[in-house]
Amino acid sequence: MTHLRSVVLGCGSYLPARILSNDELAKSVETTDEWIVQRTGIRERHIAAAGELTSDLALHAARAALVNAHVEASSIDLIVLATSTPDQTFPATAVSVQAGLGITHGAAFDLQAVCSGFVYALSVVDALLKSGGFKRALVIGAETFSRILDWNDRTTCVLFGDGAGALVLEVQPQPGTTADRGILTAHLRSDGRFKSKLYVDGGPSSTQTVGHLRMEGRDVFKHAIAMITDVIDDAFKATGTSAADIDWFVPHQANKRIIDGSAHKLGIAPDKVVITVDRHGNTSAASIPLALADAVADRRIKRGNLILLEAMGGGFTWGSALLRW
Ligand code: ACO
Repeated sequence: MTHLRSVVLGCGSYLPARILSNDELAKSVETTDEWIVQRTGIRERHIAAAGELTSDLALHAARAALVNAHVEASSIDLIVLATSTPDQTFPATAVSVQAGLGITHGAAFDLQAVCSGFVYALSVVDALLKSGGFKRALVIGAETFSRILDWNDRTTCVLFGDGAGALVLEVQPQPGTTADRGILTAHLRSDGRFKSKLYVDGGPSSTQTVGHLRMEGRDVFKHAIAMITDVIDDAFKATGTSAADIDWFVPHQANKRIIDGSAHKLGIAPDKVVITVDRHGNTSAASIPLALADAVADRRIKRGNLILLEAMGGGFTWGSALLRW
């Protein structure tokens, strides 16, 4: 019996031209390259130019993904864009991307789950594609976190960067085994009791301002590895797979120590882990598709590879997805 799967046709990414190094940051806040690298693994991040919006980054990434997938924009009937830094409160940034691509049919909307946004978006798109209502989707993670940082707060401003990544997915019949191409399973979690551990201190309903990112970093760190490994265990159980079956682990890129700790706890070898946090910083919902595009571009990720994704972020939200490329 055949089984419908959401299969990746291609991916693409975009990073703003401006690179901000740790040494440059250390000229404006009291920090050092050594502190940032040792605590986080971050060496530099990209920062959007004045007037360069989340939708601009997303559109570049979407176009790159369409080229990589060898499909026309007109064949896309669903766009889901994960972001916490939309161009405006509304309309959704996804409709700007839709218009930029010249698409006038289908549906486009934003999804907000902070750093878990891309895994959430992937899971929602998977369900919508398998429902039969849509055939080919763009899933985008795009952020301009530089716009919501308090650049005087050294405990947060050193951690984040801007960027965007996108995947093209198509629903296809597959045999219905773990050897299938496409998304094999996805698991989403949240627990709002932790909502004040990582948040933005503004919003349309509360302050009528955009606000700045605030984080109790130590508390986030304390919970991260257990949450990440729990939800990955759910993915392994659902598919009867284990760490040994994974070709590439592509985690949300928040902190090298969290990534290393999670991989170690799961028994995933360091040479199977895709790392971009050193060059991108934490780009929130954009970090996973940016890392995927990196590993596809340098031919580490190949068709047929089993890829494990995970993310954890504000809310707290967290999630995992297992897919065969
Ligand atoms: N440069 C120099 N010193 C600093 C800096 C800095 N940039 N930031 C903080 N410090 C100081 C602190 O003030 C503190 O000084 P004190 O001991 O005199 O009080 C000291 O360094 C240690 O601070 P801690 O907060 O304990 O440092 P820690 O080792 O926990 O590292 C970090 C901080 C990197 C933020 C870590 O806690 C972390 O990575 N947390 C998780 C963040 C994360 O993963 N977020 C993911 C989700 S993101 C999302 O969803 C949007």
